[in-house]
Amino acid sequence: MRRKLVAGNWKMHGGLSANEALVRSMQARLTDAVACALCVPFPYLAQMSGLVGGTSIALGAQSISEHDSGAYTGEVSGGMLKEFGCEYVIVGHSERRAMFAEGDARVAAKFAAALRHGLTPILCVGETLAERESGETETVIARQIDAVIENSGVGTLGKAVLAYEPVWAIGTGRTATPDQAQQVHAFLRGRVAALDATLANGLMILYGGSVKASNAAEMFAMADVDGGLIGGASLVADDFLAICHAATRQ
Ligand code: 13P
Repeated sequence: MRRKLVAGNWKMHGGLSANEALVRSMQARLTDAVACALCVPFPYLAQMSGLVGGTSIALGAQSISEHDSGAYTGEVSGGMLKEFGCEYVIVGHSERRAMFAEGDARVAAKFAAALRHGLTPILCVGETLAERESGETETVIARQIDAVIENSGVGTLGKAVLAYEPVWAIGTGRTATPDQAQQVHAFLRGRVAALDATLANGLMILYGGSVKASNAAEMFAMADVDGGLIGGASLVADDFLAICHAATRQ
């Protein structure tokens, strides 16, 4: 059975003293029965690597440059993330795709950059509401994952985590039903299985989009849902812990 992972994505939230209080409160009550990670804004990586070092919380970033160094003002490379203790990095989050012009080719390049630096990419895919309503969900998801497979090869997914995040469920309070999530997760796993069945079987696929303490257990009970990528609820210790505990009970 695949182990579950619960990853928090703080997005552009946090503050030095609030971060410390939040993480200390989580640490005191976390068990290591579930793998957990926090993907924090770049400026907090140094603080967070000190706070989570030696605990069961892994550190992650929310973006990465596709370049390793050079004249790319404002960008952060994989080597820099690694120096600050990052294990994970989110690539292809729908907010980056929609607001920062990150298309499939760029996401694929960022995925490759993460692997070059020994980071585990959390590759996000997901359709908009309009795409779902016009029956394009699988076409969109397939296009997003195929771009990465074509660029890096299917074998590299063995060093990555996937996250299905329907855009219409992010920060809206409108979560996908467990059946809707399961359907897309099974589609994703099937697409990878067509190329490498063993790899697909071990592939971790997280669900993200309005996961809360109240809906996490039913989501994590689905056969192809291997944990969650949690936005808003990862900023509240009690909520994040309850979601982690829901994952340990599966
Ligand atoms: P919410 O959990 O706030 O809906 O955010 C999901 C998300 O985008 C995580 O990456």
